[in-house]
Parts: sequence; structure tokens; C-alpha cells
Amino acid sequence: MRSLFFFVLLAASLTAEDVPLAELGKKIFLDESLSSPAGQSCASCHNPRTAFADLRRVSPGAVKGKVGNRNAPSLMYAALIAPQKLEDTYDENGEVEYIVEGGLFLDGRAHDLSEQVREPFFDKNEMNNADEAELAGKLRKASYGGEFQSGSDEEVTEKGYEALVAFLREPVFRPFNARIDDYWAGDKTALNLSERRGLEVFQTSGGCATCHLTGAASWLEPLLSDSGFDNLGVPSLGEIDPGLGGVTGVKGELGQFKVPTLRNVALTAPYFHNGSVGSLKEVMEFYNKRDLEPERWGVTDYPETVNHEDMGDLGLTDQEIDDLVALMDAFTDRNLVKVTDFPKTPKGVPATEERKAFFKEKDRPDLGRPRRPGGP
Ligand code: HEC
Ligand code: HEC
Repeated sequence: MRSLFFFVLLAASLTAEDVPLAELGKKIFLDESLSSPAGQSCASCHNPRTAFADLRRVSPGAVKGKVGNRNAPSLMYAALIAPQKLEDTYDENGEVEYIVEGGLFLDGRAHDLSEQVREPFFDKNEMNNADEAELAGKLRKASYGGEFQSGSDEEVTEKGYEALVAFLREPVFRPFNARIDDYWAGDKTALNLSERRGLEVFQTSGGCATCHLTGAASWLEPLLSDSGFDNLGVPSLGEIDPGLGGVTGVKGELGQFKVPTLRNVALTAPYFHNGSVGSLKEVMEFYNKRDLEPERWGVTDYPETVNHEDMGDLGLTDQEIDDLVALMDAFTDRNLVKVTDFPKTPKGVPATEERKAFFKEKDRPDLGRPRRPGGP
């Protein structure tokens, strides 16, 4: 009798308020009524069937005819991207230099995920709401709007943003269950011969792992990114995109874009910030021979800041290129293969609560201070 009483009490307290925040976030993520005009959700560009990336080169906006100029990236592991900070290093003359690390969006213009999730709702090329009042009104009217009946427009939208952040932190977005993870856990049969050769090239002559780190950094498991920014000199598609330099105002950072994770990259063609390269084979050929075949790759937006040290003439053989392409397949999480509706969470992935130390809010650094040579 007593236990029944407690059960009723528990059930009542669960239904009244506490739709878990992450569940609410999923509803918002999939809700096509939150754009203006209605018809577009986060999932329209971050497709749950393709690692939450867009297979189109650029994504159409909610308004007919509007279109962005960057390729929508995968949201797998996006919640694990470290908040932005300045890292001090030394240049060849021993002068201190500050480089930007971390932050969300391909140009790092959002300090962290919480800052990021509010932008798509108001971007003219995306969901196109006029202001928070409009978004709050839509959240109150949504099928899950019971959660949003009290509070000011600002409180309502803040709760919406928090829910999206909680959702993107869910285990389904960070399963670490690709074959490479089994390999690193000790199962040497998890990779075939070609993939093992590819991994060797990746970590030695290819130089890939200098930026796409294969060790732990800001997270326990390798994210295959160092969260830095670089200009690879990718083919220009006409519209000049200043990347990180457009955000910081630093000349040397023009044309730099964030080093993406390579997890699930086999599912997310086309490649690079502007989607200018269609296949992984071409990506590898670009890294290998960019500087030897200028006519093949054409002009780039900011030739003066292109990285010629780490790439462009790697001297890799055709076999090594094929091995690198093969390796990319070993980075695919198993729960993302053949998804019909929404990926499932594999067993054993730690809950967000268990990982909360990693998700702590970090102070926003003042990127204007200390002043950088050539900086604003
Ligand atoms: C119209 C297509 C579109 C819609 C709708 C959209 N996005 Fe995006 N998203 C993009 C593009 C394109 C980028 C890269 C833009 C950039 O870097 O400037 C991006 C970037 C992101 C990133 C940063 C990833 C990273 O690696 O830094 C996150 C997180 C994200 N979107 C989440 C969302 C959420 C949450 C929603 C819904 C509220 C949403 N997006 C709606 C196209 C879209
Ligand atoms: C100096 C740092 C650096 C090195 C070294 C490097 N990369 Fe990258 N990689 C980047 C950056 C930065 C981008 C994004 C560039 C852009 O979008 O303009 C990128 C993008 C990619 C992409 C496309 C990802 C996507 O989602 O569009 C692939 C695939 C890739 N790199 C694989 C490799 C491989 C394989 C190697 C070694 C041959 C390598 N990278 C070496 C920095 C690096």
C-alpha cells in the first residue's frame, strides 16, 4: 500500500513539470513549426540519418531563395568541442603569439554551445525568426508548449536553448563506438590491413594527427581534432569567406577554419567549410598534391595565409591515399550506420551526469586582450 502511494506520488511529480530537459531539447530539434515561415527544424539541415550533417553542399533556408554559404557540419561530438580560449605560443623569433582554440561554428564565432544554439533561430538564411518574442510565442504554442507557459519571452527562449544544449550532450551524440575505438581498446582485428596501413600514414608521413589528434586532449577519448584553426587553401567557390579572421579581425587568421573531428566523416560528404570537395578520395589527393596541381584545384580565397608547411606536397603513393580513404571508414560510429529514423544509443555510454565535470561552463575570454600583433 505504502509503495503504491509513493509510486503515485513519483508518477505525479514526473508528469507535472519534469519532462527531462534533454527530451524537451529533442522535441525542439525536430520541430518544424519554429521557423519563419514554418517548415524548417534543426534536423532539416542536421539530418539524423546522416550523422546530423547535410549532404547538400549548402542548406536552403526557411525563406524560399535564401541559402547559406557553408556546409552544415555533423553535430556528433559537437557538445565536446571546448569553449573558445586563447593559447599562447612562440613564433620563430621567440615572440609570444596568441592562437585561438575551440569555440563553435566553423569560424569559431560562438564561444560555446550555449552561445551557438541561439543563432540558427534568427539567422536570415536559416530559421529566420525576427526576435525572441516571435520564438517564445512559437514555443508556447508547440505540442510540448506546456513546458513554456510561465515566464517572460527571455525566460522561455533561455529554457529552449538550455534544452537544446542538454540534448546535444546526450550519449547518442558521443558513443565512441567506431571500429577505431575497438582497435584502440586492444582489438587489433577491428581494422583490416589497409586501414591499419592508413592509420600508420595518418600518424606519420601524412602528418594528419598533428591536427586531427589521435590522443586524448580536451576529452577522455580522441576527438580527432585539436580544436585549432587553419587555412588549407580549399578551392574557392566565388564568395570570399574570411573564416576566423572575420571574427577576430586578425589578418593572419583570414581564411582559417576550425579543424573538424573526423569521426563519422565517411557519412558527411561533401567536404570542407564550403563543401567544395565531393569525396574523401579527392580530399586525400588535395592534401597530397595541392601545390603540385594548381590548375586542378583552382584559386583559393586567401592564398597569403595558406598552410604550406603541413600539406600540399606530401609525397604519398596511390596505395597510401587509398589506405587513408579506407581508414576514414573505421571512424564511423556503429549506431549511425543505416539509421531509418533516429540513431539509437549504444549500451555502456556514460550518462551526461557522469561526464558533467567536462561540461562545466567556462568563462568567456576577452579576445581583444592581451593585444595581439596585427590584432584589433
Ligand atoms: C538552414 C540550415 C541549418 C539549420 C536550420 C540549422 N543549422 Fe546548425 N549549422 C548549419 C550550418 C551551415 C552550420 C555551419 C555554419 C557556420 O559555421 O557558420 C551550422 C553549425 C551548427 C553547429 C556548430 C557545429 C560546429 O562544429 O561548430 C551547431 C552546434 C548547430 N549548427 C546546431 C544547430 C541547432 C541546434 C539548430 C536548430 C536550432 C540548427 N543548427 C539549425 C546549418 C543549419
Ligand atoms: C594543419 C592542420 C591539419 C592537418 C595536418 C590535416 N588537417 Fe584535415 N582539416 C584541417 C582543417 C582546418 C580542416 C577544415 C578546413 C576547411 O573546412 O576549410 C580539415 C578538414 C579535413 C577533412 C574534411 C572534413 C569535413 O567534415 O569536411 C578531412 C577528411 C581531413 N581534414 C582529413 C585529413 C587527413 C587525412 C590529413 C592527413 C593527410 C589531414 N586532414 C591533415 C586541418 C588539418
